[in-house]
Formats: sequence, C-alpha cells, structure tokens
Amino acid sequence: MLRTHHCGELTKGDLGKRATLAGWVRFYRDHGGVLFYDIADSHGSTQAVFDPVATNSEDLDRLEKVLNNIGREYVITVTGVVRDRVEGTTDARNPTGEIEVLIEDAKVLNRSKPIPFEVAEQKNSMLPGEDLRLKYRYLDLRRREMGSNLRFRSKLISCARRYLETQGFIEVETPMLTRSSREGARDFLVPSRNMPGQFYALPQSPQLYKQMLMVGGVERYYQVARCFRDEDSRADRQPEFTQLDMEMSFVEMEDILSMVEGMYAYVWKEMFDEHLPTPFPRIELKDSLARYGTDAPDVRFGLEMEEVTDLVKDAPYEIFQRVLSKGGMVTCIDLKGSLIKEQDTDGSVGRKQVDRLIDWAKSQGMGGLTWMRMTPDGLSSNIVKYFPEEVRQAIVERTDAQPGDLLLYLAGPRETVLRAGGQLRLKLAKDLGLLEGKGHQFVWLVSCPLFQKDPATGGLTSFHHPFVRPVGDVIPEGKDCANGMGHSYDLVFDGSEIGSGSMRNHDPEMQRKVFGILGMDEATMQKEFDFLLEALEFGAPPHGGVGMGVDRLCAMLLGCESIRDVIAFPKNKKFQSLVDGAPTKVEEAKLSELQLLCLADEDD
Ligand code: AMO
Repeated sequence: MLRTHHCGELTKGDLGKRATLAGWVRFYRDHGGVLFYDIADSHGSTQAVFDPVATNSEDLDRLEKVLNNIGREYVITVTGVVRDRVEGTTDARNPTGEIEVLIEDAKVLNRSKPIPFEVAEQKNSMLPGEDLRLKYRYLDLRRREMGSNLRFRSKLISCARRYLETQGFIEVETPMLTRSSREGARDFLVPSRNMPGQFYALPQSPQLYKQMLMVGGVERYYQVARCFRDEDSRADRQPEFTQLDMEMSFVEMEDILSMVEGMYAYVWKEMFDEHLPTPFPRIELKDSLARYGTDAPDVRFGLEMEEVTDLVKDAPYEIFQRVLSKGGMVTCIDLKGSLIKEQDTDGSVGRKQVDRLIDWAKSQGMGGLTWMRMTPDGLSSNIVKYFPEEVRQAIVERTDAQPGDLLLYLAGPRETVLRAGGQLRLKLAKDLGLLEGKGHQFVWLVSCPLFQKDPATGGLTSFHHPFVRPVGDVIPEGKDCANGMGHSYDLVFDGSEIGSGSMRNHDPEMQRKVFGILGMDEATMQKEFDFLLEALEFGAPPHGGVGMGVDRLCAMLLGCESIRDVIAFPKNKKFQSLVDGAPTKVEEAKLSELQLLCLADEDD
C-alpha cells in the first residue's frame, strides 16, 4: 500500500501518530510560507501542512522544492505526524477537520493538467454544462457527490443480490450478441464478419433468454443485466441501461410480487435501516388512469380525480354540454382548503391563484378550467347557477368537498382530460410542497390488457410485450380479443415506472395465438420467433418474472434530476459518449471486412 491511512480516517484519536496519505491535491494555499494542502481520496480529505519552522525533515530544501511545484489535482503522497489544528481553524463538517498532518516528506506520483472545472465540493448551480462534465467524466467522478452515487448504487445492487441468493436464485449471464426481434424499441445492430450481410442485435432485455433458462430447468434466475434500446432520449432513459432481471418457474403471479416485495424490504432495511411495509398497494390500470391520469401514479398525496360526467350531463352549462355532446368527459379535483396558501381576505381561494391555474390549463391544451368554491352555504362561483341544487349536492357528496375547498373541473376529450388532470395533480403537489417529508411509495399497477390499439396502424400491439400469459389462459375470440387481459404488472415508485413483468406463455399454442392477433402470419412467426416457439414445445414450465430499472430507482432515491448521474459513463442527450467520442466513423478497411458500404456523407 502506498498509504497507511485513507484521507477520511485520521481524527483526534490519532494525534501523534506518523501517517502516510495518498491522494489528489484538491486545494493548496500559501500563508506566508506555511503551505496548506487538502489531500483527497475516495474516502474524504485531510489537511496537510508544511511549516518550515516546525517541520522535522532530513532534507528541508528538497521537500520545499517538491511542495512548491505541486498543482491542483496532482497525485501525491505525504508522510508526517498527526497534530491538532490551531484553534479557530477546525472544520466541523469534515470528520478529519480537527487534525492536520505536519508534512515531513512528500512525493509527487503524477502531475495534472489544469482542470477544466472545479472538482472540489460546491453548489450544483456552480457546475459546468453537463457535456463538459461528460467529456471529462473521470474528473466529474472525483466529485464527492458522484463518488457517493456510485457507491450507493453498488450497495443497492449488492443487497439485492444477497437477498436473491438466499432465496435460491442464481445469476446467469445471457448473451449480448443476440437475434434481432420486436421488443418495442429499435435495436442496436452489430454486423457479422463471418456471415456478411447478417446482423446481431444488442439485447433490449434478456427476456427470451430468461424464458429459455426456465425451459432449461434453472427455476430461479436473476441478472444485473445490460439492456440496449435505440429510443428517444429522456431524463429517465438511456440507450444503454441496467435492469435487475428475474424469472421464476412453477409459480403464480402472487409469488413473484411477494418475492419482489421481500427483496425491497430487505434492501430498505440494509440500506436505510427502515421497515418497508409490504405488501405494496395495488391499483388497477383503469382506476389509475381515471384517478391519477397516468399508468405510473404518484399516490403519496391526495388530489385524486373524481369523474363527474354522469352528475353534470344534464346541467345547462354550455362548456360542459359542448364537450359531452362530443363524447368527452368532466373530471374534478378537490383542492383542500387546508392546502391553499394564497387566500383572499374572506378566507377563500385567491382569485389570482385560480387565474394562474386557468392559464396553466390552457397551456396543457385544455380550453380552460372551471372552478367552484365550497362555502358553508354550499358551492359558489359565477357559474353555479347552471347547476341545479341536486347536482351541486351530488358533486359535494362525490368529492367530499368541505368549506374552504376549491373544486377544479377539467372538461374535454377523455384522453386529454385525464392527461391534463394527472399533470395538474403533479403541478399542485409541487407548487404547494405536498411531497415534503412524504417519503417513498411503491405501488403495483395490475389488471392490464394484453393488447392496445396502435394509433399508427389501427391494428393491435402488445400492452406490455407479446409473451404475457392471458388471465385464465383465455383470449376472447374474434374482435373481442382486444378485451383480453394479461397476467402482467408494473412496479411504480413515487410516480415512475421502475419495473415491469408478467407471467409468460409457456404453452406454444397460446404464444402462437397471441402472435397471430398481433398480425403475424406463420412465416413471420417462424422468421422471428421459431427458436422461442420450439423451446416452448420441449416442456416449458409455467413461469414468470420481472425486469426492474436499476438506474431509475437509484436516481430517484438519490434525488438526481437525471439517471445519467448514477451511471459512470452515460451517453448525453444525443446518445453520444463524450468521454471517448463514440459513435465515430470507422476506417474503410473495417467496413469492407464486414462487407458494408457507408452511405452517410463524408462530411456529416
Ligand atoms: P420494460 O421494457 O418495461 O420490461 O423494462 C423494465 C424496466 O426497465 C427500465 N427501463 C429503462 N431504464 C432506463 N433507460 C431506458 N431506456 C429504459 N427502458 C426501460 C424501466 C422499466 O420499468 N423484459 C421486460 C421485463 C419482464 O417482462 O420481465 C422489460 O424489459 O424501469
């Protein structure tokens, strides 16, 4: 070892000890010939000081020369004696902040060019643009926050591994060079040199391999698996990301859900020393859409939507009538009086606040937003006159409105209303600080259909993926097949989908039927999925599993704005890897070896 202690280790208990530290020079300053250095490694930082008067060195001149030529982020070792810091110069925020090492010897192990941005602790607002951080990611990773993100991620994965191994799971690696198939996103393709004109695909997930592992008798599989998807960039998406992937044989859906819950309960205990209540609440897809306007609901605060279409359908209020005549809907959010910050002198909701909400609704593609106040005398606003007393009464009952509350109505086409309502909930929660101190909440989204309409083709596509087993092993015949339900589920965490899974078709005939409904003829099935269909024909056991986004969960737990902050070398928004410049053009010779012709313009 080049050091006796790490840079986060020495405290008052070590006073008088001789120590050697190794690390980067994060800061240095010269106070009238007395030189101070902050030496940092992945554990922390320690102050080292050179005082020509106090230093006890065999060769003071050489030492002084070495120290005078040290720059920021140089890699050095220093040896010296641990002593108390001068009173008034201690740093309570740093565990080593009460001591310093009086340097007796120092060695430069490596020099550093001037750094392009500050690595030492600072406010996030002082950080340079993300592309610069990504280009010099190895420097960015020296920042304490990034280092601790990586350690957090590593610990979380290691806890999950430990739990799964105690439950009899084995980790099996599945191939990276796979067959191109339809799994949802676009594939990243890899040309084959041995078979010119043919391509591998990088896996979008290990889905079909884990199913074949079940056919192979593995029974309990997991993998911390890399997945690759060429899809549009978003803050919570990367083209290359990590799933905690699991599959189990001879089980039912309940077994998988409780295994996942057990795993997170263990992870929570180990990571945060907290009891995570299980089972997680479940919500059916249709309720989630109606109440939260999304299939990934954040259920930590109220503000749920209540549909009131049936109550207001005969009220002569023109805006609602126009919407309802076109098959639209009306939904309502009860903003509780206790949550309303801006109030008029009479204690009712501030008019300005309402106007801002109306403007916001317009920006979301809604015509506007209708509102009513709940007062001790019932609902009030300039439009209540269009709503007969019994309608008002029914609305109050359904929403449980109390005096002081503000009822916000959205009216329009169903999808637009639900989407805007979902956004309105989130906006109100953010504006009113409703999430403060709320902790985290897992929810299972269940009761999902097998299929959904593809707006592009008008045909059916899978709601999850084509391998989901139908509930009751039946799919309604003919046109009614669109109503078929699947044994599938999503794991939602604080309003984000962090996992998804299902029971799978182990019966090849059922799998064929699903492919058929998705519009595949026998030739296409054979072309794309012959290997899966054949594997299922060799005694596939009933099986199911789940894939969970590790990057997403870590980013959310750490409060990062983007999943890039929990990935050592992520791609930027344009999917470039700035640290090494990928993707790049390749030499003509490499292309011709693969018998490929590049049509992109030379100067692109
Ligand atoms: P799915 O496609 O829903 O399911 O993915 C599972 C989880 O992976 C995460 N995820 C992503 N994270 C970062 N960047 C991306 N581009 C990205 N895409 C997905 C999400 C998501 O919930 N094979 C199935 C799982 C199964 O059925 O077992 C699958 O991959 O958190």
